[in-house]
Amino acid sequence: MVSNMHYAVMKKEAIEALNIKEDGIYVDATLGYAGDSSEILKRIKKGYLFAFDADTDAIQYSHHQLMNIASNFTIIHANFSDLKEELTKHNCNLVDGFLFDLGLSSPEIDNKERGFSFMNDAPLDMRMNKEAKVTAQDIVNTYSEEQLTKIFYEYGEESNSSKIAHGIISARRKKAIITTLELVEIIKNSVGANYFFKHHPERVIFQALRIEVNHELDAIKKALPDAIKMLKKGGRICVITFHSLEDRIVKNIFREYSEVDPIFKGMPDIPKEYEPLIKLVNKKPLLPSEEEINENPRSKSAKMRIIERI
Ligand SMILES: C[S@@+](CC[C@H](N)C(=O)[O-])C[C@H]1O[C@@H](n2cnc3c(N)ncnc32)[C@H](O)[C@@H]1O
Repeated sequence: MVSNMHYAVMKKEAIEALNIKEDGIYVDATLGYAGDSSEILKRIKKGYLFAFDADTDAIQYSHHQLMNIASNFTIIHANFSDLKEELTKHNCNLVDGFLFDLGLSSPEIDNKERGFSFMNDAPLDMRMNKEAKVTAQDIVNTYSEEQLTKIFYEYGEESNSSKIAHGIISARRKKAIITTLELVEIIKNSVGANYFFKHHPERVIFQALRIEVNHELDAIKKALPDAIKMLKKGGRICVITFHSLEDRIVKNIFREYSEVDPIFKGMPDIPKEYEPLIKLVNKKPLLPSEEEINENPRSKSAKMRIIERI
């Protein structure tokens, strides 16, 4: 069941950031429930929109929504890590603007069968793309203690990662770990009730598993440099992140492409191929307004970064 309850975070700011031209080519890398794509489509009467999502529920819903507005769009069911390859297949090599509104949609989080929520009991799934092979259940039941510790530490920044990994290994020796609430119970038993109720490690452990299942950080690391290179002069990329791991990656990639290569710093003549490709539109990330946070508490952790191709 797909609900119509996704509220596009910082939508007004994202649409402004893209500086939309009526005849431009735009890419929404994270279509979701078409809140942003609908606004883009309304503004590009002579342009074209390509929209990606890994999730077929989102695509099915959004295709219908967008068709009610116009037909100058193509939805691509793929991971945005392949955006360059996918866009090239559609003869699209130059783009006026990319939008990345990262993470999960509310229906993905709220639909308990998807297994993303640590508050509802469901099989441990966590795949954005239901055709993907590896689920969270596969990871908790097959990864070694070292592998589990590493992902909990790197993707969850959880200081008790090794205790939790050890608890998982002990539990699965008795019985395979099948559901979200079984995992929550194992996490609680591994760290003790005091730490559990004070720090809620299940939140970051679920985040870490989700990132591993969907290769979320690798996707950003591959897609953003490709998007930068496909931008037309004056074209923009707007990225909305929801946690510090994502934001750090985006910040570092934008910094790398907006600065002169250190070898040439201070030199009068920089070879053209070593000049920066982009400039930062905002030095510090933009944050949602108080009003938006009150209306939609899920927007609280959002950060928006914008760059322009030069
Ligand atoms: C926060 S929601 C986007 C909401 C959207 N802006 C809207 O207005 O409804 C993120 C969406 O991107 C998708 N997604 C996240 N990472 C992805 C990736 N690497 N490749 C493809 N889709 C991805 C998710 O399935 C989800 O539907």
